[in-house]
Amino acid sequence: MKNFTFYSPTLFAFGEGEAKQTGELVRRFGGTKVLLVTGGGSVKRNGAFDAAAASLDAAGLPWLELSGIQPNPRSGKVYEGIELCRREGVDFLLPVGGGSVIDTAKAIAVGVPYEGDFWDFFSTRTPDVSLPVGVVLTIAATGSEGSDSTVITLEQGGLKWGNKKSDIYRPKFAVMDPRYTCTLPAYQTACGAVDMMSHILERYFTDTTDVALTDQLCEGLLRTIIAAAPRALAHPDDYAARADLMWAGMLAHNDICGTGRTQDWASHQIEHELSAFYDCAHGAGLAVIQPAWMRYVLPHDPARFAQFAVRVFGCEMDFRSPEVTAREGIQRLTAFFRSLGMPTSFQEIGAKAEDIPAMVAHRAEKPGGFPFGGFVPIQPSDMEAILRIAAEA
Ligand code: NZQ
Ligand code: ZN
Repeated sequence: MKNFTFYSPTLFAFGEGEAKQTGELVRRFGGTKVLLVTGGGSVKRNGAFDAAAASLDAAGLPWLELSGIQPNPRSGKVYEGIELCRREGVDFLLPVGGGSVIDTAKAIAVGVPYEGDFWDFFSTRTPDVSLPVGVVLTIAATGSEGSDSTVITLEQGGLKWGNKKSDIYRPKFAVMDPRYTCTLPAYQTACGAVDMMSHILERYFTDTTDVALTDQLCEGLLRTIIAAAPRALAHPDDYAARADLMWAGMLAHNDICGTGRTQDWASHQIEHELSAFYDCAHGAGLAVIQPAWMRYVLPHDPARFAQFAVRVFGCEMDFRSPEVTAREGIQRLTAFFRSLGMPTSFQEIGAKAEDIPAMVAHRAEKPGGFPFGGFVPIQPSDMEAILRIAAEA
């Protein structure tokens, strides 16, 4: 295990009805005027918005709203939010929804006190200050409610890119009521499950040795998601399944599973090109890319892939040829994604094989470009090969 520093200061208010605490929590973390950040309206229909607003009212906190954040959020709404906060004297951001509204709020929060362009924090700098952010979560997926990340697409050029990591982006609190996730369409529920599994796999596939504890945290989380997601799809109101998914999504990405080990993140980097090119849901893009990446890098460490197959999917170990077991594990993962109704091929997300060179070139233009990936360093030819595996699946 490597040395590490782990700082995860977010307060979590978890369970049915906990949104009633929102106003008090905003006050506790210094807010006096709040910007609610919302998407296309789901949170108005499922009660999350009303519960948060009522709690702010009860606490005597004035608030206003920035609505219309779209999935794969764009920079335009961040600029709009920064202007609004400055004009109205807002000092607290409260996204109500999923990763897209949370990430927008995080970017606004660092942009308000900064004199330059907020995009600097996605290319060259980390912020020294941020307005505080609290979250009312309505989708179990990205883990942004506890993470140090935000992902925004710059409108000009369609660059989908993450911030330079800093604990300043971790929310002050997150209200997590699994009941709000019961209104999620099956597709979004499944996308969320894939995303959180991918967050775990990005950490699980490592060259760091002596990581038995975090390996087993990862495996336990994966098995829990594999059990809960089909139950949530079959019975959308299954509170226990929704609760497991919601907490698993946070644990998958606040980095507790990644402590003391190098991490990979190549599948996410490649997926960001898919969602930039085709505006597909992040989880759907990952369902296509993650298994393709696994097939490609398997020869790097068949024993680790075999361990995954045995411990997560209960495959029988082939001691003479661990690679056989390893391949079976990848097949079982792909079959699981399919059983959730997720796409696992290029065609299903509207991607085209002829765009592969353009996606690789687009990646090359990003800061840092190539190589990327902590398990196997990915060069342009590797990215192209992984995308070809996905295209031919
Ligand atoms: O816009 P509304 O009407 O609210 O509908 C949303 C949206 O269409 C809907 N939804 C959310 N909660 C619902 C609901 N519908 C019914 N009932 C509910 N309870 O779900 C749709 C997707 O919402 P979105 O916020 O886009 O989903 P998600 O949470 O998966 O976020 C995806 C974004 O987060 C980024 C992704 O790249 C993508 O841009 N990520 C952020 C990360 C982070 N900050 O740590 C890490 C991830 O790896 C990821 O990259
Ligand atoms: Zn993700």
